[in-house]
Amino acid sequence: MADKLTFTRPDDWHLHLRDGNAMRSVLPDTARRFARAIIMPNLKPPIVTTEQAAAYRARILSALPAGLAGRFEPLMTLYLTDATPPEEIARAKESGFVQAVKLYPAGATTHSDAGVTDIARCGAALAQMEKLDLPLLVHGEVVDPAVDVFDREKVFIDRVLIPLQQRFPGLRIVFEHITTREAVEFVQSASGRIAATITPHHLMLNRNALFTGGLRPHHYCLPVLKREVHRQALLKAATSGHARFFSGTDSAPHPVSAKESACGCAGIYSAHAAIELYAEVFEQVGRLDRLEAFASFHGPDFYGLPRNSEQISLIRESWQIPAQIEFGEDVLIPLGAGGQVCWKLVGN
Ligand code: NCD
Ligand code: ZN
Repeated sequence: MADKLTFTRPDDWHLHLRDGNAMRSVLPDTARRFARAIIMPNLKPPIVTTEQAAAYRARILSALPAGLAGRFEPLMTLYLTDATPPEEIARAKESGFVQAVKLYPAGATTHSDAGVTDIARCGAALAQMEKLDLPLLVHGEVVDPAVDVFDREKVFIDRVLIPLQQRFPGLRIVFEHITTREAVEFVQSASGRIAATITPHHLMLNRNALFTGGLRPHHYCLPVLKREVHRQALLKAATSGHARFFSGTDSAPHPVSAKESACGCAGIYSAHAAIELYAEVFEQVGRLDRLEAFASFHGPDFYGLPRNSEQISLIRESWQIPAQIEFGEDVLIPLGAGGQVCWKLVGN
């Protein structure tokens, strides 16, 4: 059993950093571990233009503490709306720092009210993305209230993803934070232009974790945790070596008061231990040898970006996850709060 793992520095292909002091609190957790991260645009108001993405990127870079400055690259995204003009897609592509455009079905999740009400309205923007080869990232859940919450991803595949792929066969799509066996099977059987990210929490937990001894708001995220058979399918996909599954934490910090509420919001914070938790789950299925490909190779290969050249090391040493973490003027409760992780990051 290896006691030290040294591998190519990983990237996080799906991250919520927020803004201002809240961002300042959480950014070092990601920048210590990952070389790059795809930054979600669901601020309030959302990042819908290249100009806004440039300003947000500058705020991120200036929020990096001295020791991490120059070591972390935020990969920016635009938030697709019903009204995104094809010219904005062209500006995004030209910028060199916008790597993708994010589709949130309106109302699907946190800060998605400005999202797309009907994908048919986005034809011109999507055609431009296909032409310029700018990937589309999808929050893959339908918002139809008649569809059971646990089926929303599966139904999205049939109602939205398959028609989308038929209409724009050249469009590169990342099916974000997949949670079901159906999504795994869809990606495996789809063309090489569709990939998926998988979060640490969907690899670690099934939906029982929402109700262990009572209601557990800190295990609530979207898409919601699913049955064990789905977790098993995700675990198999992530550790299979298949090149179109890769890391994307969906680390989504919220103040404790917003989570522990009569209407608690969706989002799990995992940036404080993301690569360590991935290592733990890969080890549980005897597949530590495939961690590097999942976390460091498949993502850049799909996005057409260079792989990182630096390395990181984890040592086998248990440490305790703090019960809470500072979050701007507030605090947040991290994934695994108060528990132990068996891999520890070396250095900073
Ligand atoms: C995300 C957030 O809080 O911004 N929440 C979540 O549960 N994942 C939004 C999202 O990615 O759906
Ligand atoms: Zn997200």
